[in-house]
Amino acid sequence: MYKEKILNLLRSSKAGYVSGEELARKAGISRTMVWKHIESLRGSGFGIEAVPSQGYRITSAPDILRQSDIKPGLKTGVIGKEIHLLPSVASTNTLAMEMAANGSPEGTVVIAETQTGGKGRLGRKWISPKGNLYLSVILRPAVPLQKAPLITLMGAVAIVSAIRTTCGLEAGIKWPNDILVSGKKVSGLLTEMSAEQDRVRHIVLGIGVDVNMELEALPLDVRERTTTLAAASGKAMDRTALLRQLLRDLDRWYRVFLLNAQEVLREWRSLNLTIGNRVAVSGAGETLEGLARGIDEEGRLVIGLDDGTIRTVSAGDVSILKGARVQ
Ligand code: BTN
Repeated sequence: MYKEKILNLLRSSKAGYVSGEELARKAGISRTMVWKHIESLRGSGFGIEAVPSQGYRITSAPDILRQSDIKPGLKTGVIGKEIHLLPSVASTNTLAMEMAANGSPEGTVVIAETQTGGKGRLGRKWISPKGNLYLSVILRPAVPLQKAPLITLMGAVAIVSAIRTTCGLEAGIKWPNDILVSGKKVSGLLTEMSAEQDRVRHIVLGIGVDVNMELEALPLDVRERTTTLAAASGKAMDRTALLRQLLRDLDRWYRVFLLNAQEVLREWRSLNLTIGNRVAVSGAGETLEGLARGIDEEGRLVIGLDDGTIRTVSAGDVSILKGARVQ
């Protein structure tokens, strides 16, 4: 228990180093015991640097997800009420949809180290080797159906926030829900829903984040437009720290969504990489080319075509056409 406390204090330190004195005071133990727990954490695979007169700092963490590292001190209201962590599953989304239909509570999170049948948008596969994050969150928002697509935008905002906080990378969002770093995709969302007439029964928000995998695990065509957080930052990332921050950010933004969905749209717009660019949007058997003018109240992309007509699309693949940013 104290070992976990020390680990959490080190993990959540914004300043970098935490002094032995501060760790002892906050954990309520002696400095000798702090040192013993630091040694024990090193024995469990954590790299911990000790600098005289500054304190301790985590430099590396074992790349395994463990319940006992994810849950303690998470302090979320809804998200992560129940956490199910599996070594492998066909798809966390499929499992979470089944669990939701069988009554699992709102905020239940299903996480897997690998997926054998990971699902992407538009019926594609989501290749899911070890080293990344694959999770699905069960939500039961009491909102009308037309507000449901905003849940995906809310998820994108939370992912960007978690990546920026944990990895210090300038992540942004390409409509509808691709998270990009340096122009390449690092994360995607797949939302599935069960509804009755005009009401949401439950929603499963599925999130894949490419963290530490070898890019060689992907087929060439996908690899070209993909990066990982490790590749973008030049060092392996602590998946547990990222996951915990993501659960906190989802908790915060889901609450904002329930109180005032306009706030989510405002944040999404400020993080987006699409609006103001010339784009080609393919989907539903056609490709539209024009200026991405904005997103509407339901998160649909508004495109101004060259002949002056305005089109609104709710799904598709966007290519940002180079060298044509407007405004
Ligand atoms: C996309 O195509 O960009 C969406 C990818 C979503 C992948 C995640 S991984 C966890 C969850 N389970 C799945 O089968 N898919 C989503």
